[in-house]
Amino acid sequence: MADFLYVARNVSKHFFVGSRFSSQGLRTVHAVDDVSLEISQGETLGLVGESGCGKSTLGRCLARLYDVTYGALNFDGKDIAGLSNRGLRPLRAKLQMVFQDPSASLNPRRRVKDLIAEPLRIHTRMTKPQIAVRVAELLNEVGLLPDHAERFPHEFSGGQRQRIGIARAIALNPKMLILDEPVSALDVSVQAQIVNLLAGLQEKLGLTYVFVAHDLSVVRQVSTRIAVMYLGSIVEIGPAEDIFANPRHPYTQALISAVPEPDPSAKRNRIILQGDVPSPVNPPSGCRFHPRCPYAQAKCKIERPALLAEAKGRQVACHFPLSNG
Ligand SMILES: Nc1ncnc2c1ncn2[C@@H]1O[C@H](COP(=O)(O)OP(=O)(O)OP(=O)(O)O)[C@@H](O)[C@H]1O
Ligand code: SF4
Ligand SMILES: [Mg+2]
Repeated sequence: MADFLYVARNVSKHFFVGSRFSSQGLRTVHAVDDVSLEISQGETLGLVGESGCGKSTLGRCLARLYDVTYGALNFDGKDIAGLSNRGLRPLRAKLQMVFQDPSASLNPRRRVKDLIAEPLRIHTRMTKPQIAVRVAELLNEVGLLPDHAERFPHEFSGGQRQRIGIARAIALNPKMLILDEPVSALDVSVQAQIVNLLAGLQEKLGLTYVFVAHDLSVVRQVSTRIAVMYLGSIVEIGPAEDIFANPRHPYTQALISAVPEPDPSAKRNRIILQGDVPSPVNPPSGCRFHPRCPYAQAKCKIERPALLAEAKGRQVACHFPLSNG
């Protein structure tokens, strides 16, 4: 395990909804279902998949904002799956999460300098003057101006608020950030600025990222590797460019076929998947993708394919993987 900063083994997260007394009874949502992955120091792992496939839930499990239902989490050489609230405190400094809408975590009645100082006050014994110096440093680091410190969150644009959120996330010198759709709510031009900021911080501070996004072109741009999720599980994972050049899982192929190609001469045929994503309350038998898979065969309905290792760091969960995209 020494080679990886983060190792997740057979992680599942179930939510229990409804009640025994309601018409549908008590139901189990299999939001994350038996996920295993390794993350190397300094890389960006992109996490993609349709809405509801479990990206945010997996992100929150990795950051230990949720308890996992099953499975093991090892971060920076420590087992973190079973940590108590007290045990989680030192972890919070090293592993932070950044959300799509930073406003939700920014108290509107507090000035930016106090918002950025908050993690420093809670987690360190820095004096007031030391905190003031660090806040100024952090503002500069995320591209905000010194006089922004006195303002309130509503005085900022969405992109600037995300910068404030990032300043808070890096305040304690974390090793890893889990970024849940950090640019999805922003205009395209602003998205590029935040992506550049994150890339610069990663290089300067040696950060490791998990980058959750709907938008595959953003993910392609930022990721070292990409993990594709479907109905709570990883169906394919591998180096970003290999995944785009040669998707092996039929679901990955369909997702990629929907991404606009920058070079118009390299036309792709868009694959339209039939049907909706099935419910994670009652996932299909066998391969969970079989009701929508254009290549499904009899075996796929019965036997669930394991995520198997291939050459060049690729793993695919399919009985009949594709070749050459
Ligand atoms: N707190 C919760 N209680 C019950 N079910 C939940 C809860 N949070 C998520 N779910 C369900 O778990 C599944 C995964 O949700 P999740 O939010 O992780 O998906 P996602 O991939 O992040 O989707 P999106 O792209 O829309 O953000 C969904 O079916 C969702 O309805
Ligand atoms: S296992 Fe079968 S149904 Fe599942 S993705 Fe592969 S070919 Fe399609
Ligand atoms: Mg989400």
